[in-house]
Amino acid sequence: MSSDLFEQHGIDPERIPRHVAVIMDGNGRWAKKRFMNRVNGHQQGVETVRTIVTAARQIGIDVLTLYAFSTENWSRPASEVKALMVLLKRFLAKEIDTLDRQGVCLNVIGQQSRLPDDVQTQIERSMVQTRGNTGMVLNLALSYGGREEITRAVRAIVNEVSSGGLSVQDITEETVAERLYTAGQPDPDVLIRTSGEMRLSNFMLWQVAYAELFITDTLWPDFSQKEFLDIIRQYQTRERRYGKVPCISNDGSQQ
Ligand code: FPP
Repeated sequence: MSSDLFEQHGIDPERIPRHVAVIMDGNGRWAKKRFMNRVNGHQQGVETVRTIVTAARQIGIDVLTLYAFSTENWSRPASEVKALMVLLKRFLAKEIDTLDRQGVCLNVIGQQSRLPDDVQTQIERSMVQTRGNTGMVLNLALSYGGREEITRAVRAIVNEVSSGGLSVQDITEETVAERLYTAGQPDPDVLIRTSGEMRLSNFMLWQVAYAELFITDTLWPDFSQKEFLDIIRQYQTRERRYGKVPCISNDGSQQ
């Protein structure tokens, strides 16, 4: 990978987070500040998607999850929903060869069946093209909601219990995790939200239990490779305790 990037940004290549999840927010405000249509903000947001996917791949992140369209976003004006669907389809059609060359495996999480047929077809084609890639998984969260995901997992578990395939005593946290859209993937180590809002907005409610949170005031279209890599550097300075106390040695010093 790019040793220059590690040096320039003070990143330790040995402690790269395995999974980074991003709530891409602020496209509308970015456009409004420029007296533009909200869709122009989303268009500019696509450029940032390209930049961040490339940076994540270059530093060796295993999984990058981008929150592109929530279950709640369906209630936006029909014209904006339509424009976002066109952008998504165009992004996949245009970028999939590049993603493929970069070794990225595309995965969509969320209620795919609610998406327009042409978007579903494009997703299917893109996922098939990149399914053998092992460089990085790119989860695009589309028509995604954390509560819907957990509800779906509960439904699957109840069905298995009622058909006798699973007993209630055997239900563990893993039983739930294995029935989420992210089954088999590590939980996010880092959760980034742009545009300064201090909310989870129904994003990966189960998976972010121990994620390190980074909220930046930068609007998504202005979010840069530099700021992304700065967050990775800061992540490496954080102590992750998972609810435990730091390890204290006999002389009272911290290990
Ligand atoms: C939030 O900004 C952003 C979205 C709802 C959509 C995100 C979509 C993109 C970045 C472009 C398409 C994505 C891909 C993967 C090609 P907002 O509209 O809520 O902004 P606001 O809070 O300032 O109004």
